[in-house]
Amino acid sequence: MKHLRSTEELTPEDIDRLLVLADSMAEISARPVPKVPALRGITVATLFFEDSTRTRLSFDTAARRLSADTMNFSVSTSSVNKGESLRDTVETIAAMGVDAFIVRHKSSGVPWQVSAWTTASVINAGDGWHQHPTQALLDAYTIRGALGSLDGLRIAVVGDVCHSRVARSDVDVFTKLGASVSLVAPATLLPPSLEGWPVTVVPELDDVVADVDVLYLLRMQRERTSEALVPSMREYTARFGLTPERAARLPEHALVMHPGPMNRGVEMAVDPTELRRSMITAQVANGVAVRMAVLYDLLAGSARIPDLAGTAEITGDTAATEARR
Ligand code: CP
Repeated sequence: MKHLRSTEELTPEDIDRLLVLADSMAEISARPVPKVPALRGITVATLFFEDSTRTRLSFDTAARRLSADTMNFSVSTSSVNKGESLRDTVETIAAMGVDAFIVRHKSSGVPWQVSAWTTASVINAGDGWHQHPTQALLDAYTIRGALGSLDGLRIAVVGDVCHSRVARSDVDVFTKLGASVSLVAPATLLPPSLEGWPVTVVPELDDVVADVDVLYLLRMQRERTSEALVPSMREYTARFGLTPERAARLPEHALVMHPGPMNRGVEMAVDPTELRRSMITAQVANGVAVRMAVLYDLLAGSARIPDLAGTAEITGDTAATEARR
């Protein structure tokens, strides 16, 4: 794999390989000194044209834990504000010597454009409504860690599916791993066509809440909604929010997940710390291990990990690493 721009580029075997690798990366992260020299000499540039807390910081942390050098581009302090184009920005940063671009942009498809302008690997950190592949991988990793496997699980994805890149990536990864996915939303928050989506649609959260293994709440994307797609936030919460009453009806083992940032009082109308099985903090923590796995998989070539229990180095494909220097 050279790029990770969409979950559609991943087979179930690719996903499984990355999740197994993430276990090794979680072990590294738990060490007193959570750092290995696996990507020494590699430079990773984070190119974020849209706001982020979790994705940006966890990619940065992941790269540092693997000893990669990092370059952080922030649009608010860049020459984009003087009119520099996206292509000129990418080519300028690439000229400094970059092995991987991690790209977030409000427009769908930008990671594909970037990969046409540079020889570096490109990882999609969220493009418009389209894809957020590492979020889906960390979500699958979190579910697998809590429930053992996704095969046969009933997962309800609730809320603003239409504007959600997380929903598109999650549905693809969850179903590739054998889960049954229901979309729970009003018609106005569903895509105009669900042709090709391997899902069922459920119009009311109350119809599924007592019968799920995972309840995945989506953020109401107020910044991407130009018109009132629900009568009011209060009515949205009444039908689709996780209220204390609905939380009490969840099966004991059921996980509650959210990609963040949460709208408290809207989709999350209960204190998440009072939920029996909230995975929200685990999702954030697992994001580092999963992004380490993705960076390692893309950038260390045919690497192998000889001794993760001890302090030995992760040895990568040194020829590939040298070639990138
Ligand atoms: N889940 C997610 O992408 O969060 P950030 O926008 O904070 O990166």
